[in-house]
Amino acid sequence: MRKSRGNVDPAFDARPARDRDEARNLVLSTMSKPANSAPLTAHEAAEALRWWREAGVDLALDETPHDRFAESAAPPARHAPSPLAAPAPRAAEPPKPSPALTATPDEAQRSARESAAAAQTLDELRAALQRFQGCGLKATATQLVFADGAPDARIMLVGEAPGADEDRIGRPFVGRAGQLLDRMLASIGLDRTKVYIANVVPWRPPGNRTPTPQETAICLPFVRRQIALVAPRLIVCLGGSATQTLLGVKEGITRTRGVWREYAGDEGAPIPTLPMFHPAYLLRQPAAKRQAWADLRKLNRAVEEMGGVG
Ligand code: URA
Repeated sequence: MRKSRGNVDPAFDARPARDRDEARNLVLSTMSKPANSAPLTAHEAAEALRWWREAGVDLALDETPHDRFAESAAPPARHAPSPLAAPAPRAAEPPKPSPALTATPDEAQRSARESAAAAQTLDELRAALQRFQGCGLKATATQLVFADGAPDARIMLVGEAPGADEDRIGRPFVGRAGQLLDRMLASIGLDRTKVYIANVVPWRPPGNRTPTPQETAICLPFVRRQIALVAPRLIVCLGGSATQTLLGVKEGITRTRGVWREYAGDEGAPIPTLPMFHPAYLLRQPAAKRQAWADLRKLNRAVEEMGGVG
């Protein structure tokens, strides 16, 4: 299980450590019950579900467990069809949606590069993402979270990946972190009609975990194309993940924030890019808002220098 990106129920942290330990011990004891022992009581089942949800596991993928280690150790099937090609439906069966990710990461990345490059408009890029079958996150997400804001904006903000609220509504940064982002923008006279907002990964990772490097690499050609099509004059990377992915830096956000760098696209001049703390981090660490405010002022100065938002 991976750490979730900060959407842990605040009630969980607020509960006394003794309660949390009791819940954890109860869950551990139910997990180690032999398969043929008595079913969980309603209390045990409710506690187990609550414990998993608070740990960030809030999505059931299947009714039965799978041993993925054993599956990946098995020899590959001979003459396997190309995993990106959806199987032709049999005459009597209604067509099913093509299966979730079965391509190799290399195939998925190649396919992502090709379909992103072919998109000549943002609408075409959105449609290409809707068709794309190379990222497994699509199978667990409710919907694609493509973008919000003005497609001709001079400022583009890029976050990491949608969370639960974004996944439900279909727009980036609409949850608590998004509301803080709106207030941050408003503090320097901006709003969603004056900026364009997207994420590096456009599907919600289950339980709000951090996208894996592989998922990020597969989605990267799409967000790079999105940047090329919006052609912003300034980019703001929200958080370490977007910063590392778009700028190719290794340092964490504490070191990179507040310093202008350049994003190198595939075409055109490099774009000045400012890494900032992610608003979800600021919700957890309000003391860091001071630095965020300094960064917002830097952004505001750059906006003034380029003659406003257009
Ligand atoms: N966090 C992100 O990085 N993006 C969103 O859209 C929401 C939360």
